Amino acid sequence: MTVHFIGAGPGAPDLITVRGRDLVARCPVCLYAGSLVPRDILAYCPPGARIVDTAALSLEVLAEEFERAFAAGHDVARLHSGDLSVWSAMGEQLRLLRERGIPYTITPGVPAFAAAAAALGRELTLPEVGQSLILTRTSGRASSMPPRETLPAFAATGATLAIHLSIHALARVVAELTPHYGAECPVAIVYRASWPDERVIKATLGTIEAEAARSPMERTALILVGPVLGSEDFRPSALYDADYARRFRTPGWRGGPE
Ligand SMILES: C[S@@+](CC[C@H](N)C(=O)[O-])C[C@H]1O[C@@H](n2cnc3c(N)ncnc32)[C@H](O)[C@@H]1O
Repeated sequence: MTVHFIGAGPGAPDLITVRGRDLVARCPVCLYAGSLVPRDILAYCPPGARIVDTAALSLEVLAEEFERAFAAGHDVARLHSGDLSVWSAMGEQLRLLRERGIPYTITPGVPAFAAAAAALGRELTLPEVGQSLILTRTSGRASSMPPRETLPAFAATGATLAIHLSIHALARVVAELTPHYGAECPVAIVYRASWPDERVIKATLGTIEAEAARSPMERTALILVGPVLGSEDFRPSALYDADYARRFRTPGWRGGPE
């Protein structure tokens, strides 16, 4: 018996990985985080599977689900939205399984920031404009931030920011970032990237609040900030530079058979 943690992807049911889908299809138990995991993925569960929405369950009740499946020898597909490496609450479940000696595997998924970049039609790193992406959030009711992980501290680097779980704090985000990036810095809000009701707002730090007020959205939205979102005159990367010697290319190669 194994608990398979599976990143379900950002929303579109076909953005789960092939490995994740195949695992769901062969597990007799499926525990899914109902608030963000698309219901269509549950159609991959085998007939008769025990399917439980864990959105309202405590960790103790979740532990009982794992223990029951372990006792019955039933593999479990444990679905969380996006990827499991960020804001999935997988850490505490892994600890719980380790304490009980229950084996597990982890199958990554497409994270929300990648789906948001796709919705924007943008690369989030551009030569000489932005080479770092900071995935962060602001403090919420349930989670405070470590004292040094502040928006102004991240903004001081000038890196591209992907701010999660913070659409309710847009005014504060704008106030804390504007002194560092300037009012003209491009901002995008991507609401429910890859879902049928996906929405995109493109603006600047100076105008984003007014734009967002015209198209109110709650919870499942990502705020992206940084010059890469507006840059068109960046230098091309060395990757496709014909004079850039790479392992499989000779300098001066211009394409075609070598
Ligand atoms: C609990 S976190 C889950 C993050 C997820 N594990 C990931 O890999 O992206 C939820 C936050 O992620 C962002 N998010 C998740 N799915 C999204 C989507 N489809 N579109 C935009 N933002 C999304 C929102 O900021 C939301 O508040």
